[in-house]
Amino acid sequence: MAVLRSVLGSLVGVYCCSQLAAAYVVGNPVSLPGYQHVFPNPARVDVLPPKFQPADEQQQQQPAEPLVPNGLEDWIKDQRKTSMRFLLENIAPNGSNARGAAPGSVIASPSKDAPNYYYQWVRDAAITMAEVVAEYGETKDESLKAIIEDYAKLQDSIQNTFNPSGGYTTGGLGEPKFMIDGAPFTENWGRPQRDGPALRALTLMNYVRMLNETDPSLISHDWLRKLYDGKFPTRSVIKADLEYISHSWNLTGFDLWEEVKDLHFYTALVQHKALVEGRELAVVLGDSAAGVWYESQRHELRKFLTTSFWNKERGHLVAYLDTRYRSGIDCSLLLASLHGSQEDLFPPWSDEILASLAVLVADMAERHPINKQTPPFYPEGRLRGVGIGRYPEDRYDGVGLGEGNPWFLCTSSVSNILYNTIERFLEQGYFDINDMNLGFYQRLHPTGNAVTGRYTAGQPEFKNYLTDMFKYADSFLNVIRWHATPEGRLSEQFNKYSGWQRGAKDLTWSYGSFTSAADDREVAKKALVRGMAVAA
Ligand code: NOJ
Ligand code: NOJ
Repeated sequence: MAVLRSVLGSLVGVYCCSQLAAAYVVGNPVSLPGYQHVFPNPARVDVLPPKFQPADEQQQQQPAEPLVPNGLEDWIKDQRKTSMRFLLENIAPNGSNARGAAPGSVIASPSKDAPNYYYQWVRDAAITMAEVVAEYGETKDESLKAIIEDYAKLQDSIQNTFNPSGGYTTGGLGEPKFMIDGAPFTENWGRPQRDGPALRALTLMNYVRMLNETDPSLISHDWLRKLYDGKFPTRSVIKADLEYISHSWNLTGFDLWEEVKDLHFYTALVQHKALVEGRELAVVLGDSAAGVWYESQRHELRKFLTTSFWNKERGHLVAYLDTRYRSGIDCSLLLASLHGSQEDLFPPWSDEILASLAVLVADMAERHPINKQTPPFYPEGRLRGVGIGRYPEDRYDGVGLGEGNPWFLCTSSVSNILYNTIERFLEQGYFDINDMNLGFYQRLHPTGNAVTGRYTAGQPEFKNYLTDMFKYADSFLNVIRWHATPEGRLSEQFNKYSGWQRGAKDLTWSYGSFTSAADDREVAKKALVRGMAVAA
């Protein structure tokens, strides 16, 4: 998700889609040059062929390429296009995996059994549609606009559907998941989940801003009022979500993994961002009383966020306020920063996020046996990425309770954080190594002896750290490359022992997390090549 750019101004603002790469061409056949011979068969769940080549074969494959070795660049570009194509297959009415679903439904996965993910989750849909909005901004493809419009309409109807969490103004917006025709899902579930309204509001506000920037003539009064009517009580999608958030952010609910009832870093941070942007929208549209109210709640929420989640003894953020049986280290900390941060509130490059990333990666490197093996394609042993799971104590194996595995979207999230960090450091011309983030930089340092202090553009260390950070980020995408099928299909997880894909096939969110990382990589790479005279 184009996070950093979306922390932007008002309706007259400057939402910028410039970091979006590779235009998506509808129906364009995707070829993965030079790839098939590596993968003679499509990956199948739980078959155990030798996944990794012996070390000496890998050695022979290593060319001396400066920044991006072994065809990784081409693979990322292809996979970016492929991912958008597969993501769109999961959206009705035209997606081939979502036939018969209400127009605008984003199914989480076409898997109908073991596990059944053939539903629409408010969270997954909003995160996915954020990528579609960005893609539309880049390509101006009218078919994408139609999908977004369908999504907005369907969300309006879903908000107005009485469900087990409640009605329109009585908690129903916290319902996490609906049937594919928009009917309520009535079985037991971890509800409510309070991140959904925030993510949905953020996606729709991005859409409004993007249209305003690129073609304001598309914004009619009536159209805008359906999204934000400035009335109280409201009948409009974005304002309904902002009302929900501003009245319930301090109540417990289930986390994004749908397991723990508590207050959560992820939920709180995306709610905070929705209130920042919601206040701006309210003010621009003359709803000043709402603006004052959203700002007052945002202020309180910020206080809560900054005082509750940093664990000094452990040296990382904790994902849950009061869930003692977990360490609190969690990929949702990174996702929170990607989806919900502000420049001055837990952005990807902040000490807290980089410190937490280092702890998460170190844990996962040891936890999953597959991570002890070196995947091919990527020569730099020191900067080798690993498969990242949700959190250390995870026992969800993709179908039921067993052993937790690495997830594609968590693995992408590490790369995404690093690309955003590189871009930021190049832009500001320095970065600081300090006691809080030292562990992260030790990982990047050739001998592990990173030294605290300020590093500025022009110093050789500045360049070395940032190019290594880029290689390190790429090496996590390289892990995905190794576990993707030859066609570029991504499920939810890959087996921690064998590496074969597991859990819901063609997980929409896996594709969206890849397009986000790949787009932000383009921006980071351009900045790196421009700023540091590094060979492309
Ligand atoms: C399904 C949920 O979606 C998943 O997040 C959870 O881990 C499993 N159920 C196990 O509770
Ligand atoms: C389980 C994940 O834990 C949750 O975050 C997601 O919303 C659902 N699966 C659907 O993809």
